[in-house]
Amino acid sequence: MDHTLDLNTPDDAAALAKRSSLLTPRFYTTDHAAMDALDMSPLRREWDAMLAEYEGDNNQDHFQRTPEFAAEVAALSAQWSPQLRRDFQDFLVSSLTSEYSGCVLYNEIQKNVQNPDIRALMRYMTRDESRHANFINQSLKDFGLGVDLLALKRTKAYTYFKPKYIFYATYLSEKIGYARYITIFRQLEKHPELRFHPIFRWFERWCNDEFRHGESFALIMRAQPHLLRGANLLWVRFFLLAVYATMYVRDHTRPWLCEALGMDATAYDHRVFEITTAISKQVFPISLDTASPGFRTGLDRLLHWSLKADAAKARGGVIGKLQQGVCAAGAAWTFLKLYLHPVQRHELPAEIRVAPAW
Ligand SMILES: [Fe+2]
Ligand SMILES: [Fe+2]
Repeated sequence: MDHTLDLNTPDDAAALAKRSSLLTPRFYTTDHAAMDALDMSPLRREWDAMLAEYEGDNNQDHFQRTPEFAAEVAALSAQWSPQLRRDFQDFLVSSLTSEYSGCVLYNEIQKNVQNPDIRALMRYMTRDESRHANFINQSLKDFGLGVDLLALKRTKAYTYFKPKYIFYATYLSEKIGYARYITIFRQLEKHPELRFHPIFRWFERWCNDEFRHGESFALIMRAQPHLLRGANLLWVRFFLLAVYATMYVRDHTRPWLCEALGMDATAYDHRVFEITTAISKQVFPISLDTASPGFRTGLDRLLHWSLKADAAKARGGVIGKLQQGVCAAGAAWTFLKLYLHPVQRHELPAEIRVAPAW
C-alpha cells in the first residue's frame, strides 16, 4: 500500500491510476505494422474455434449490477477496518487500471490493423475489458472514487513494447489475472462469511474472459514458434520473473486484503504461481521453480528491499536519497539472482488449448 497518497476524492483515485512505477499497471503502445503482419493460418482450426467462442459471448449479461448491490456494499463496508478499506480501494484502482490498460491497447491495435484475424480478436477483447473496467469503476463510484477513464487514457504515460514483449507480458497478465480471481472465488465458495464485498461473486465468469484472452495470446505465440525458443527464452524468463515478483511485492504491501479473505498473502501468491505455471506450459518450455526454498527466499528479499525503499522515500532528504540508492542496488542484485535461479524445462504439448479447470 502506498501511504503517501490518501484516497478521498476522484482526483486521488485518478492520481493513483496515473502513477508510473515499477509496481503499478502500465499503458502500452506497440508496432501496429508488425501486428498487422501476423499470420494465424498455421493454427486456423484452433483460431477459428476461439473466435467462435468470443462471438458466442457467454458473458453478455454478466456485468450488470443487481438492485441489491449498492445496499450490500453499504452494509458490509460499515464493518471494514480502515486498513481493509484502504487496501481494497487500492486493489480496485489497480485492477481498474490494468483492465483499462488492456482495453486501450487492444482498441488501438484494432483501429490500426487491417488483418481480419487480429482485428476480430482485438475487437472482442476490447469489448470484454471495457465491461470489466466499467464494472470496477461502478464499485469505485460507491466510494465517490470513480475514475474518468477517457482522461486517464489521455494523460497516463505509455510504454512502447515490441509485439513479442506484448505477447509475453499480456499472456502472463491475463493468465495470472485468471489465477488470482479464481483462487479468491474458490476461497469464498468455501467461506461465504468472508465475502466482504459483492464484487467477488462476479469473479468466476469474469476470470473465464481473462482465461480466454490468455488462450488467444497462446495461439499467437504458438503460431510463431521462434518466439518460444533460443535467445527468446531469456525474455520469457525475464517476463515470468517480472510478473511474478511484481505481484508478490504488491500483495505483501497490502496484506489486509488477503487477510480479510482468510488467506495469507504468501500462501495465496504461491497458489497463484502454481496455477499460472501449470497453464503456461501450453506456451513456455521453461517455468520458474517458485516452490524451491531459494526462490522463495529471493522473493522475500525483494519485498524487504521494496519496503525499505518506501521507508527511505518517506524519510526524504540526502540520507533518504542515499538509502533509496542502496535499496535499488539491493533489489537489482536480488532480481538478478532470482533470474539466474535454475528453471524447469518441458516439451510443448501438441494440443495447445487448456481448459479453465481450477
Ligand atoms: Fe479483464
Ligand atoms: Fe483480459
